[in-house]
Amino acid sequence: MFRIIKFVFFVMPLLPPCTAHGQSKPYYTAIHSGVPWFDDRGRIVSAHGANIVIEHGRYYLFGEAHSDTSNAFAGFNCYSSTDLRNWKFERTALPVQDSGRLGPDRVGERAKVLKCAKTGEYVMVMHTDNMRYKDPCIGYATSKNITGPYTFRGPIMFNGQPIRRWDMGTFQDADGSAYLMLHGGLLYKLSDDYRSISELVIDNKWRGAEAPAIFKKNGTYFWLASDLTGWERNDNFYYTSTALKGPWIARGYFAPKGTATWNSQTSFVLPIPGKADTTYVYMGDRWSSTRQASAATYVWQPLQVLDSTISLPEFQEAWKIDAKGKMLFMTQTGKKVIRPDDKQHFKYWGNWSQDTLTVRSASTSGDSLHVRFSGSQVCLYGLSRPDGGYALVKLYDNQGRVRFTTTIEMYCKYPISTPAFLSPVLPKGSYMLTLAVLGLHWGWKEKSGRVSGSKGNVISIERIVVTK
Ligand code: GLA
Repeated sequence: MFRIIKFVFFVMPLLPPCTAHGQSKPYYTAIHSGVPWFDDRGRIVSAHGANIVIEHGRYYLFGEAHSDTSNAFAGFNCYSSTDLRNWKFERTALPVQDSGRLGPDRVGERAKVLKCAKTGEYVMVMHTDNMRYKDPCIGYATSKNITGPYTFRGPIMFNGQPIRRWDMGTFQDADGSAYLMLHGGLLYKLSDDYRSISELVIDNKWRGAEAPAIFKKNGTYFWLASDLTGWERNDNFYYTSTALKGPWIARGYFAPKGTATWNSQTSFVLPIPGKADTTYVYMGDRWSSTRQASAATYVWQPLQVLDSTISLPEFQEAWKIDAKGKMLFMTQTGKKVIRPDDKQHFKYWGNWSQDTLTVRSASTSGDSLHVRFSGSQVCLYGLSRPDGGYALVKLYDNQGRVRFTTTIEMYCKYPISTPAFLSPVLPKGSYMLTLAVLGLHWGWKEKSGRVSGSKGNVISIERIVVTK
């Protein structure tokens, strides 16, 4: 039986993404955090350490392209969208260079794009490094078009010297002036053409403070940052000030303590002006080194901003901003729940154990399951845990054709029930979801030398939830 299934379901080619309600592209009805997203080509959206530029009603997303085999720079991608949920791949805006700071086997991270009103040029600023993070330098690239291609120009200079730092972010103030933030709390002002640095605004000398992001509301500046734990997630924190030059006041964590910022690290805060109010989108990364291309995900949450306080009080699994700028929340994706002990739908191969009434788990490479369902969208929920590992997920139509496939990661420093895979909206029909345990997990030597990551390869399944 297994052999036949293997042949029918594992040898069929991956077809272009199916259509939903006459649409030719994968389609999402909400912003979903913590699950891989498929773009208009049916491939995983790969744009981490990202920022977004809004232009003519479109969101342009820039971020790190990744591979699943190495941490080496694989280019900076650009996608666009009108709703923050459905992403069109535009191009690799800055590809791997033939040689130099962003050449082969180098590190390129946290690309941030700014439009310079004075020159009309788009300027991309980024962290460049060697593979051991021992050659950090802030570089920049320019383009006449928002989507690129961008031309890499080398280090961005201050007083004729390159800036030898790694984690960075950018902020553009209402008067058009642009700033570069660095880990440790450094803030520089860019020159009028954004191609160099004109001034050191402040050196806060904070400990760590990686992943810097600044936004402003009603005259208050908010500076978000993370602790220094590499790809491992930690409780991110923030400072406020009424002037960029400070004094900056430490305000503590903005997500509940112990959630490791809902299992993510800050990359950017996007203000979206609406008719009634402005929405502030916290954009974070759930890294998954070195399977960053398929298993790293985005944690994008509505940030509450009240006077000089910001918070992410609850994890919003699915939410959206409507045309009027109003936020809408959905508690769960779908209605029909199928549990792993439902023998009619779930079939298992290998060594699955029943951990609790609702959770089944396995950790050996090749252990697998399949679950059949009828409907238009499926969400797989599992238990992310300190010993969580990787699994390969495939979604088949009733012709046995693979419609979507990706690797998922089920690691978290603390156990938490969470969506692990979500299909786009599909044409109503019968489908099969398969999951194969890869017997692998992520681990990483942080810049401090400490080793972080998972302690096991466990995949724990709780339920699938199907939308009719
Ligand atoms: C932190 C940084 C990332 C990257 C990793 C690598 O997470 O914020 O940009 O440099 O460390 O260890």
